[in-house]
Amino acid sequence: MKKALTIWLTGLPCAGKTTLANMLFRSLLAQGLTNVEVLDGDVVRTHLSKGLGFSRADRDTNILRIGWVCQVLTKHGVCSIVAAVSPFRAVRNEVRAMIEKVGGPGSFVEVWVRCGVEECIRRDVKGMYAKALRGEIQQFTGVSDPYEEPLQADIVVDTSRESPSVSVGRILEVVNRGHL
Ligand SMILES: Nc1ncnc2c1ncn2[C@@H]1O[C@H](COP(=O)(O)OP(=O)(O)OP(=O)(O)O)[C@@H](O)[C@H]1O
Ligand SMILES: [Mg+2]
Repeated sequence: MKKALTIWLTGLPCAGKTTLANMLFRSLLAQGLTNVEVLDGDVVRTHLSKGLGFSRADRDTNILRIGWVCQVLTKHGVCSIVAAVSPFRAVRNEVRAMIEKVGGPGSFVEVWVRCGVEECIRRDVKGMYAKALRGEIQQFTGVSDPYEEPLQADIVVDTSRESPSVSVGRILEVVNRGHL
């Protein structure tokens, strides 16, 4: 991969975004890439987006901020890997336009980390689904807030059917094929 790319992982909570982002990061470093950064939604919300909530407006603001950082990184040739639920299609498309304006067509790779909500509830890594189902937290994506599925994702990985390493392999294949 020569060109700066943004690999944007979108999907329900517990679909596997963080898991795949961290594995991709290690794989790209192993390929010899040095300019790689992971932007994880959970981490971003403790810094750049601290204080934002989960209304549609706040979610959109959070995504646009992450998109802006990726735009800056793209300008400097850094590959960004984003792991964020990013449930709304319109703002995902807005971010694509922002990145491609700087990095050119194909510099934004939308990966739909697909997993049925039943399996996500079964995983419930952080216990958030249980809380949402008990009504202890509101506006939880997949339970009480919408997730707009990508209509034209560049890659779809189905984490309920394939192992993380298979998912990562499929993403790398596309990334390397398009950008070598
Ligand atoms: N193919 C796969 N890809 C990724 N994760 C998988 C896969 N198969 C099983 N898993 C498991 O699913 C869980 C996904 O948790 P992870 O924290 O990565 O989700 P997330 O999408 O980042 O959620 P959140 O939005 O809450 O941060 C992990 O326990 C992981 O081991
Ligand atoms: Mg995560």
